[in-house]
Amino acid sequence: MDTQAKKRNRIEISSEQISQQYTYMERVRDFVGTADASEQKRCYVETYGCQQNEADSETIRGMATEMGYRICNGPEEADLIVFNTCAIREHAEQRVFGNIGALLKYKRRKPGLVIALCGCMAGEPHIRERLEKSFPYVSLVFTTHALWRFPELLFRVLVNGKRVFASDETGVIAEGLPLHRDRSVKGWLPIMYGCDNFCSYCIVPYVRGRERSRRSDEILADAKRLIGDEGCRDITLLGQNVNSYGKGLDEEIDFPELIRKINALDGEFLIRFMTSHPKDANERLFKAMAESKKAARHLHLPFQSGSDRILKLMNRGYTSAHYRELIALARSYMPDLVITSDVIVGFPGETEEDFEATMQLVKDLRFDALFTFIFSPRRGTKAYEMQDETPKADKDRRFQALVDAQNAISKEIHSSYIGKTVRVLVDGKAENKTEGYLSSRTSGGRLVVFPGDEGLIGTFRDVEIRDCTTWSLSGVLAE
Ligand code: SAH
Ligand code: SF4
Ligand code: F3S
Repeated sequence: MDTQAKKRNRIEISSEQISQQYTYMERVRDFVGTADASEQKRCYVETYGCQQNEADSETIRGMATEMGYRICNGPEEADLIVFNTCAIREHAEQRVFGNIGALLKYKRRKPGLVIALCGCMAGEPHIRERLEKSFPYVSLVFTTHALWRFPELLFRVLVNGKRVFASDETGVIAEGLPLHRDRSVKGWLPIMYGCDNFCSYCIVPYVRGRERSRRSDEILADAKRLIGDEGCRDITLLGQNVNSYGKGLDEEIDFPELIRKINALDGEFLIRFMTSHPKDANERLFKAMAESKKAARHLHLPFQSGSDRILKLMNRGYTSAHYRELIALARSYMPDLVITSDVIVGFPGETEEDFEATMQLVKDLRFDALFTFIFSPRRGTKAYEMQDETPKADKDRRFQALVDAQNAISKEIHSSYIGKTVRVLVDGKAENKTEGYLSSRTSGGRLVVFPGDEGLIGTFRDVEIRDCTTWSLSGVLAE
């Protein structure tokens, strides 16, 4: 690996540039501020896509709060609406366009409303063009690279009344921006941005830029804050390929070492991470997890396909045999490890035989859960240009067969928990349940529902499992 080239990719925004943005936050606050608190302007942020976007939305809300806005939970009363979008599949984009269309009625009712779109879709030239032409009431569009300049961009929209499209293309690292978090026992902690892997189907490297890591002292400071004042008990380290963390940094550090450093911090909490890549996950990682008491017993390791021919076309950089070895190795270090994965069905040229190899891998490895996606062509990627002759009906049938096979496995694994006692972190009230039920997660990330008092939220408890579904366990407090 050419480390010099890697270093050149890493551009840290200077503290002067960040403080300039704080000045813009003040200017916006002066502009939108009112003497009467009941008139305070409101900001609504709608987030699509992965945890990386969830984390970015915390920064957007943080900046909006600094700019004098109160965060609200729906578009109805908002004066500023920000859509933080996802481009991973066509369906995600259609939803965004549909929901943006529905905002027109609010804009008509309140002409001063500012509608902004950011996130991964903003990084696609053809999407920016469509927004410019067909959605004149969207007045601010900015890519993930321009996120740190949101205050300045919003100020321009407010003061000049003109539309602003910012598409800064250089991947940057911006430290020291304000964050606004829900008071939750779970916290996101980005450790790196972008991706260099260019899997042939994937849009992420194009919209999020080259891979770059944050310095470990910044990450550790954030982790301390989350575990301390913020009351988090479950921290997820975020990156598109966390196993290549540290490349291009001046310090000697890699991902397993980072886990050990966070594990050494005081307090009772769990460390999770998303996502691992099979070409870079290795024994050092499993050893660090096994030896770190606070590392959650969960590994999300997407395999994408069980066919070596397809893996090659996907540019994934490993074989199905290597993937199987990795899983065996991980399980040898942590027999109780919960393993989940992602798979794509219907990649261009996928034959019945290729699909069978995927099905076999799923049956052999018995994942705890599997996220199954049908290939969605993304403009600008290699796979977009590939011949894709498989009829949709065949893809749908393969998709359903895989989902059915996995559901049966998940249900079997869950059934084996009945009668056992598991340690959980209580994270909130249970959704879709009668009053009085709490939701919690095991170290492996399994959802456990049980009746209990809200005062237990944020604590670790033992629960005796009595029943299960494909997706969750239920039981009673063991104490
Ligand atoms: N960086 C992570 C994945 C991020 S995207 C990794 O490499 O594992 C999450 C998942 O979406 C991927 O694992 C893949 O299964 C799926 N995905 C990505 N692009 C897709 C596309 N064009 N069509 C269908 N699924 C896709
Ligand atoms: Fe996309 Fe591959 Fe990067 Fe994951 S590793 S974000 S699938 S290009
Ligand atoms: Fe979507 Fe961007 Fe995440 S494309 S999955 S929000 S990195």
